[in-house]
Amino acid sequence: MENIIEVHHLKKYFKTPRGMLHAVDDVSFSIEKGKTVGIVGESGCGKSTLGRTMIHLLESTDGRIIFKGEDVTRVNAKKLRELRENMQIIFQDPFASLNPRMTAIETIREPLQLAEHYSAAEIETETAKIMETVGIDRRLGNSYPHELDGGRRQRIGIARALALNPDFVVCDEPVSALDVSIQAQILNLMQDLQEERKLTYVFITHDLSVVRYISDEICVMYLGQMVERASTKELFRNPVHPYTKALLSAIPVPDIHAKREFVKLTGEVTSPIEPKPGCRFMARCPYAAEACKKPQELSELSENHFVSCIRVKEIN
Ligand SMILES: Nc1ncnc2c1ncn2[C@@H]1O[C@H](COP(=O)(O)OP(=O)(O)OP(=O)(O)O)[C@@H](O)[C@H]1O
Ligand SMILES: [Mg+2]
Repeated sequence: MENIIEVHHLKKYFKTPRGMLHAVDDVSFSIEKGKTVGIVGESGCGKSTLGRTMIHLLESTDGRIIFKGEDVTRVNAKKLRELRENMQIIFQDPFASLNPRMTAIETIREPLQLAEHYSAAEIETETAKIMETVGIDRRLGNSYPHELDGGRRQRIGIARALALNPDFVVCDEPVSALDVSIQAQILNLMQDLQEERKLTYVFITHDLSVVRYISDEICVMYLGQMVERASTKELFRNPVHPYTKALLSAIPVPDIHAKREFVKLTGEVTSPIEPKPGCRFMARCPYAAEACKKPQELSELSENHFVSCIRVKEIN
């Protein structure tokens, strides 16, 4: 299968008064066309920064992003505009991300207008088409975000993201702000759209049951780095990084054969500002040893199962 996007040694640092904050620190992975890769990890580990940097909403500090064979980090402004149409984002809270003064139809129409290569007639047909696709009744076209419920608002967010027919969509906690009953509807819609349009998703979430349901593969992040990556099935069946084990041990196990031990975290979270070279999870890891002070690298443990832990063989 062809990779639609490849991320090589991506870094995104933020300047802060206390030094450089390493929000994304040397992350590499690739995604096959039509797949969903879930990104999990606790608040502040860099999930949103990674997603936003991948689609160039944030400028990277270092590294390369190859999208459909082209280096997104090194293109001119015109090419970037083109690429951007092809890489979109769905945000967590559509109430915060939608313009409160724009109606549903105006919100969905706007990206088509900004793209500058659609005629007025095309804009109207495309807008009507995408509204129907995401299940927004035409009669709601003149409603403002505050007049709609969370599910409908997110349908508008999805319609806006898909209006230009992108290939790649970063979904940043798209259902976290919704009632559980609505979450399933939106997830199903996203899956149907993925199938119809051969979309590739990066799906960011805190919710392990959501990520398990939606993703083909999962990346686990800890303080700006990827600590484990595997197919969804393999990751839930056989988590090997101590942080992944701790993360997964918090949820119930439906599969009685799954290897699962309870890992309790102690210690303080390391600061993401000017971190030391060794393992960032060390301060909280029950298996920490001298060797963990060395820089760690994500390496392949078994086929398509990657982990960044020098002691992985001893502790599993
Ligand atoms: N514009 C910014 N300036 C400075 N620091 C930032 C900026 N944006 C994010 N950060 C920091 O970068 C780190 C990663 O933040 P990010 O929002 O990517 O995490 P996250 O995993 O998406 O968290 P959450 O689950 O809460 O959404 C955090 O330490 C955050 O404080
Ligand atoms: Mg986030």
